Amino acid sequence: MRTIMLLMMSSIWLFGAAGSAAPQLNEKFQDSGKCKACHVQIVNEWSESYHAKSHYNNNEYLRESMKFVGRKSRKSDNAIKVECAACHNPRIAVTETGLDYEIDSVMKLNKNSKVDKALESDQLNEEINCLVCHNVNKVHLDLNDSKRGVHRLEWNPVGIMSGPFKDANSPYHKTQYRDFIGNDPKQLCFVCHANDRSVEGFVFANTEKEYKETKKQCVDCHMSPKKEGVASNLPIENRKPKKRMVREHGFVGAHQAWMWEGALRLKAEVQGKEFIVTINNENPHNIPTGFGSRELILDIEYKTGSKVLKEEKISLTQHYKDKRGKVTIPHLAVEASEDMSVPAQGSKTLKVPMLEGAGMIVFTLSYRLVNDEVHELLKLKEPQWSEKKFIDKYTLRL
Ligand code: HEC
Ligand code: HEC
Ligand code: HEC
Ligand code: HEC
Ligand code: HEC
Repeated sequence: MRTIMLLMMSSIWLFGAAGSAAPQLNEKFQDSGKCKACHVQIVNEWSESYHAKSHYNNNEYLRESMKFVGRKSRKSDNAIKVECAACHNPRIAVTETGLDYEIDSVMKLNKNSKVDKALESDQLNEEINCLVCHNVNKVHLDLNDSKRGVHRLEWNPVGIMSGPFKDANSPYHKTQYRDFIGNDPKQLCFVCHANDRSVEGFVFANTEKEYKETKKQCVDCHMSPKKEGVASNLPIENRKPKKRMVREHGFVGAHQAWMWEGALRLKAEVQGKEFIVTINNENPHNIPTGFGSRELILDIEYKTGSKVLKEEKISLTQHYKDKRGKVTIPHLAVEASEDMSVPAQGSKTLKVPMLEGAGMIVFTLSYRLVNDEVHELLKLKEPQWSEKKFIDKYTLRL
């Protein structure tokens, strides 16, 4: 009886629909290195992206956040790693840990467990790689909104690549067209870029909910507009690579300073004894979006001639509290302060006081990946997290 039950359970494991662990990769499809001979440009572009840096070994902020969550929620580090892997490393061979694992881990009996083996697997070194996005068979839109990452996906058998072309032909792997890549790729992006919640179930980021329908897709801005190129450098048409309309695979975003220039527009005017500063956002999602504790900073310089009379700073960010009412990081939050982001295709206005004697006011808007509060909590060391990225400047002469 027990064997039958086990067999039944393991067949659900193997062929189950949404939420099943991804099938184990074989030698031919181990990692992006296996794609490089025929997709060299795509592999190079992707490897510079933060999809390729979504592993705790490669990202200090992620690593320190995981440790902090583990410490405060009294779960084992590995249980947290598995939880975060749902979106940060969805090819992991286990998708949840249970109380049994926590007990084993306290007793130090976890060494040979399925969880530890899964976390040590070489297949996970590459984070959100080609085999995450292109080995998906189906995105389950029918599931509860809280099911994200691997819990929303159904996988292909290894060796079948889902792509944007109906007529692609590869000697190395099977291909199949899928709408969530070809026609409406935001469906794929929202598998992970939506409904990001704390261990307490508090939703602190949701790009899907903010999203305003436009002609532009996520991929137009975060990959590139479609342009002439090749999908594969293999000579498959008259001994030459086949020309195709393709996009770059850089997934450029908040970590790239150049993406921030002009991302928002500043304007200021005098109204009575104040300045009204307007920040305009033409993008289809709020800014910041996607993750908590990001920060917009408005620096104000009151000047007369070249002399600076006074400097002020306004921080637009969110602060989080845990269940004991203490300041915390987004992943442990039960509540947040007011949302200070600039709404999608909308604007935010701020009132700034005038200063007697000032003849010129310079407003500068910039962005930081981590606000001071979280920076301090996690004791981050790399300079990138607190570096200011320039967005826009506006000068008002009185
Ligand atoms: C629902 C999917 C999902 C889950 C689960 C998830 N994340 Fe994320 N995480 C994201 C996405 C999407 C981003 C990128 C958002 C952005 O850049 O604005 C992100 C970004 C981050 C960042 C910022 C990294 C950087 O380079 O700036 C940290 C830190 C982070 N996550 C920590 C965690 C931790 C810790 C866990 C587990 C407790 C976790 N995440 C679980 C989706 C998820
Ligand atoms: C985050 C998801 C994601 C990841 C990771 C990813 N891709 Fe893609 N890929 C896409 C999307 C979306 C498109 C469709 C773009 C379009 O509209 O043309 C695409 C298109 C393609 C195409 C067709 C040519 C083109 O540019 O349209 C090839 C080939 C491809 N990807 C290979 C790869 C390889 C190889 C890797 C790993 C280095 C990879 N992809 C990583 C999402 C992804
Ligand atoms: C031996 C060469 C070769 C290797 C290795 C290879 N591919 Fe391809 N791939 C191709 C060719 C050729 C095409 C078709 C190009 C075309 O039709 O323009 C293709 C097409 C694709 C497409 C588009 C499919 C569609 O239906 O739109 C994806 C996605 C893709 N490959 C992903 C991968 C990934 C991921 C790997 C690595 C695990 C990989 N390929 C390894 C040759 C290769
Ligand atoms: C399997 C989950 C998953 C999918 C699917 C996914 N992403 Fe991401 N994405 C993430 C995570 C996790 C991060 C955070 C990586 C980090 O900073 O460690 C991220 C980061 C990003 C960033 C921020 C990069 C930066 O430098 O700040 C952009 C932009 C992005 N993704 C765009 C997309 C687009 C466009 C799609 C759809 C074609 C997509 N993603 C699909 C999980 C995903
Ligand atoms: C019209 C262009 C445009 C479109 C379309 C667009 N974005 Fe963005 N996105 C931006 C700009 C500009 C920024 C701010 C600069 C940056 O981070 O690259 C941004 C920032 C982001 C970030 C990083 C936010 C942070 O502070 O960590 C993520 C993640 C992201 N977008 C995801 C998406 C997803 C997912 C979609 C589709 C649902 C999408 N974007 C559609 C322009 C766009």
